[in-house]
Amino acid sequence: MKTISIVNLKGGVGKTVTTVNMAAILAGDHGNKVLVIDADPQANATRFFGLNGSECNTIAGIMTGECDYIPEYIYDTSIDNVHCVPSEISLIESDIASIRTGNGIKALSNFLDAVKDDNKVAEDFGETPFDFTLIDCPPSFTAASVAAIYASDEVIIPIKIDAFALDGMYELMKQIDSVRAIRPGIKIAGVLVTMWHNCPAVVQGEDFLRKSRLSVYQTHIRRSDKVDESTFARQSLDEYSRNCAATVDYHRFVKEYLGEVL
Ligand SMILES: Nc1ncnc2c1ncn2[C@@H]1O[C@H](COP(=O)(O)OP(=O)(O)O)[C@@H](O)[C@H]1O
Ligand SMILES: [Mg+2]
Repeated sequence: MKTISIVNLKGGVGKTVTTVNMAAILAGDHGNKVLVIDADPQANATRFFGLNGSECNTIAGIMTGECDYIPEYIYDTSIDNVHCVPSEISLIESDIASIRTGNGIKALSNFLDAVKDDNKVAEDFGETPFDFTLIDCPPSFTAASVAAIYASDEVIIPIKIDAFALDGMYELMKQIDSVRAIRPGIKIAGVLVTMWHNCPAVVQGEDFLRKSRLSVYQTHIRRSDKVDESTFARQSLDEYSRNCAATVDYHRFVKEYLGEVL
C-alpha cells in the first residue's frame, strides 16, 4: 500500500478536489482499492463522500488513541472501491489531546500498519488489501497533518498560481524536512498546478514554477466551473462531467503520477 499526503499550507488550492478525484480515478480506471483519510477538521472530503463526521468514528479517535477496532473507523463511500476515514470539526480539540494521550506523530502510521495486518478489514472491505491511501491535509500545521506526512511515502503539493502561490512553501518544505529527519525516505512526488487558465499572469507564474527547484507535473489541471458544481452534487468529476477539461486533466495527471506514458 502506498500512502500519499496532499498538502499545502494554503487553503483553496485544490487539495480536497485533487484527493477525491485522484481516489476516484485510481479506483475506477486503474482497478485500485483506495482509502481516503480526511485529516482536515473542515471535513470537506468527508462531506463530499456523503458522510457526516459527527455520526462517525473519525480520525480524531485515531489521533487520541481511542481507536481499538480498526474496521469501525473505515466507511464505504458513494464511489466503488473508495473508502474513507472521516473527519469532523472536533479534530481541532482532539489535536492537542492527541499529543498527550495518543501516539502523536506515529498515530496515522500505526493505524495504517494495523490496517495492512487486519484480516477483518480485508473481509469487510472486499478481501483485498488497499492499494493506495490518500490523506487530505488541512491548510495548517496540526498534529494530524504532521502525523499524515510521517505516515506517507510521498507528498503531492497542489498549487493554484496567483501572486501568493508560493507563500508558506518554505515553511512547508522545512516541516517536511523535519519529519524526514525522524523518518527518512518521505518523497516530494511533485507539485500539481491546479485551476490553470490561459491568462498571462498564470502562464508566466507556471513558467516560473517550472524553472524553480520544485518538480512540477507536466499535466496541469484546467479551471472549470464543473468542478464547483461537482462538489455541490457530491459527485466525482467522472460521474458529474466526464468530458470537461478538469476531468480530462485529472485522468492525465493520474496516468502521469503512475508513470504511464501520456
Ligand atoms: N480545476 C478547478 N477548476 C475550478 N474550480 C476548482 C478547481 N479545483 C478546485 N476548484 C474549486 O476551488 C475551491 C477550493 O478547492 P478545494 O479542493 O476545496 O481546496 P483546498 O482543499 O485546498 O482548500 C473549491 O470551491 C473547488 O470547487
Ligand atoms: Mg480541503
